[in-house]
Amino acid sequence: MSPPGADLAIETFGLVKVFGETRAVDGVDLAVPAGTVYGVLGPNGAGKTTAVKMLATLLRPDGGEARVFGHDVLREADAVRSRVSLTGQYASVDEDLTGRENLILLARLLGHRKPAAKERAAQLLDAFGLTEAADKQVKHYSGGMRRRIDIAASILNTPDLLFLDEPTTGLDPRSRNQVWDIVRAVVQQGATVLLTTQYLDEADQLASRIAVIDQGKVIAEGTKGELKASVGAGSVHVRLRHAEQRPEAERLLTQYLAAQVQLEHDPVALTARVGLAGDGGGAAEQAARALHELSRSGITVDNFSLGQPSLDEVFLALTDHPATGPDRATDPTDPTDPTDPTDPTDPTDPTDSTSPLDPTAARTPVGSGGPSKGPTSKGGAAK
Ligand SMILES: Nc1ncnc2c1ncn2[C@@H]1O[C@H](COP(=O)(O)OP(=O)(O)OP(=O)(O)O)[C@@H](O)[C@H]1O
Ligand SMILES: [Mg+2]
Repeated sequence: MSPPGADLAIETFGLVKVFGETRAVDGVDLAVPAGTVYGVLGPNGAGKTTAVKMLATLLRPDGGEARVFGHDVLREADAVRSRVSLTGQYASVDEDLTGRENLILLARLLGHRKPAAKERAAQLLDAFGLTEAADKQVKHYSGGMRRRIDIAASILNTPDLLFLDEPTTGLDPRSRNQVWDIVRAVVQQGATVLLTTQYLDEADQLASRIAVIDQGKVIAEGTKGELKASVGAGSVHVRLRHAEQRPEAERLLTQYLAAQVQLEHDPVALTARVGLAGDGGGAAEQAARALHELSRSGITVDNFSLGQPSLDEVFLALTDHPATGPDRATDPTDPTDPTDPTDPTDPTDPTDSTSPLDPTAARTPVGSGGPSKGPTSKGGAAK
């Protein structure tokens, strides 16, 4: 019989990290099932990176406990390091080296002999759509290419648990999709991924469970459906055939949905949030009744849908403030963002490539003294 918690990749109890006056991580309990993508969602300064660093043994917790595959991050740090890999928030490969040189160097430092290191580098460059750019210096890479080479470097040895700290911040939508495909491929090969993100749609797309953190505390945790259901049953979206019927539709929807109705920019569209008390069944009934009333009043409805609230709405409802605070990181869709070096003409595309993870890759320890993305990537050794 397996010990309790054996199917958990990560388990924390009351984890705390304090920096001066700041309780960066303030009593966090997590249980991350193995073999899944677990999303940690929170705005700038929520404590995401600090939590990840403690779990990756880069930072010493000030309180509580954390176990990775059953190993205590303090007492059994080496055992933890042998199972994990971290792609930090900021790219940590050597800018002056080419992509290929970086991967070969890291593979050599991880103990691969030269031919094996070369082969693994070539394999990952191919899988990540970087073969054409392989012999360019990394400083000439686009933002999307940098993130990909960074993730490639962190899975030179197949980790059981991969920490991805905001892997797509600052990337354009296309590059984000490429990174998402890589994450999916990594998990398909049996790894667990702990992904931090400020992007609600990213957590929604990738994660099976999500912890929402704010000011060092987990303020909600569950499957995407559970999170959404805890905030409200959903949003009703209506599109009318005739714009002139909208005022009457607004009146009827307000009456029958008992909710505030929003007029969309599109002159035939209306939206209302329903079932805020979490009564999902009630919301569906209410929505059906409202639809019936519209048709009884001669209003032609072209499209009607009842969807779950977005994760943005979830965050707003849980924290009383939007996830997009004033000091939020770069907006991946903002074309004017000067910090976004993404090259929109990037010809590489890993989506149609083979899996980036090679299950036959050697499993020598990552991070224990090596240059892996972990200990040296940001912030040095545990302090
Ligand atoms: N080494 C440090 N010394 C002092 N304060 C720190 C240190 N590292 C983090 N903090 C503080 O701890 C809090 C949490 O920071 P952390 O970097 O974990 O947030 P985050 O959720 O990763 O944010 P972001 O989305 O901006 O990356 C912040 O208030 C931050 O200023
Ligand atoms: Mg961070």
